[in-house]
Amino acid sequence: MMNYRITLLPGDGIGPEIMAVAVDVLKVVGHQFNLNFEFQEAPIGGVAIDTTGEPLPTETLEMCRNSNAVLLAAIGGYKWDNLPRHQRPETGLLGLRAGLGLFANLRPAKILPQLIDASTLKRDIVEGVDIMVVRELTGGVYFGTPKGVFATETGEKRGVNTMAYSESEIDRIARVGFQTAQKRGGKLCSVDKANVLEVSQLWRDRITLLAPEYPDVQLSHLYIDNAAMQLVRWPKQFDTIVTGNLFGDILSDAAAMLTGSIGMLPSASLGNSGPGVFEPVHGSAPDIAGQDKANPLAQVLSVAMMLRYALEQPVVADKIEQAVLQVLDQGYRTGDIMSEGMKLLGCQEMGEVLLKTLSS
Ligand code: IPM
Ligand code: MG
Repeated sequence: MMNYRITLLPGDGIGPEIMAVAVDVLKVVGHQFNLNFEFQEAPIGGVAIDTTGEPLPTETLEMCRNSNAVLLAAIGGYKWDNLPRHQRPETGLLGLRAGLGLFANLRPAKILPQLIDASTLKRDIVEGVDIMVVRELTGGVYFGTPKGVFATETGEKRGVNTMAYSESEIDRIARVGFQTAQKRGGKLCSVDKANVLEVSQLWRDRITLLAPEYPDVQLSHLYIDNAAMQLVRWPKQFDTIVTGNLFGDILSDAAAMLTGSIGMLPSASLGNSGPGVFEPVHGSAPDIAGQDKANPLAQVLSVAMMLRYALEQPVVADKIEQAVLQVLDQGYRTGDIMSEGMKLLGCQEMGEVLLKTLSS
């Protein structure tokens, strides 16, 4: 019997609802595959602010460190939007990423045949899309200094952030990009703004320098504005994309939408060692929180990524991914992916049909 300690961070909004489904799924596959999951739950984001005054309590980070993997749902909500930055839910998430050294964020955007009609783009544009965005997650303008809002000599305020990358930061994410491309379609597109930004020029130079080490990967470069356009114009040209923190944030939302709903996409955040964090790409959706309307499938697919990347249980991961496809094949949909003739389910009901499928 394999033992795994999993830290659960349900967070805010729809977080607890979708996490409940994910935990049920883990219990079922644990039983089937003889895996023992020891769950420990901790607060992060708004719920942590309410109970402890901080978005990332030290105990939460410690619990994460003392586990085999971290499963996170979502953080944030209107209630905490006007707090000072150090007390915002988002600051807790950034602290978790930095605290665990999770510099590599893998965000797959694969269109499922069952959901082609849920995409806002035409069928022939999105059919067959299978992209992996490798986003740098602990550097760039999200973390660069100086940062802050400063008073100038005239008394006018000035807001400052700094986009900075060192060579070693670029190299390590570039390597993840190349290696990811090697395991996929062998194509890597690096996205930057080297026509304007010095930091991007260094980014491009380092990636180009590493390319000969990966002769089996076909490397290309795009500027971020062009990449955004190409992503909606002809997404099938992309296999693996590697990019910095801010550009990756933006492109991964756009890539997600190609697949019909951001409610379907999981992600993995990994460091060089220690536990990774597995979470849906979507946010806490405060507008539908507590209404049993959320789509739990991105959370469930994040469980599959956790099993694949952190716990080395690819067979179990496959089984969960297959079950998700089967549920869609049977015509079950949550509101975000609903289309004509399909059966509309709430979050809990979606969980139930998934468990049934997993057990059959
Ligand atoms: C994401 C989110 C976060 C980010 C926010 C919530 C801090 O948008 O994971 O993409 O910007 O990284
Ligand atoms: Mg984002």
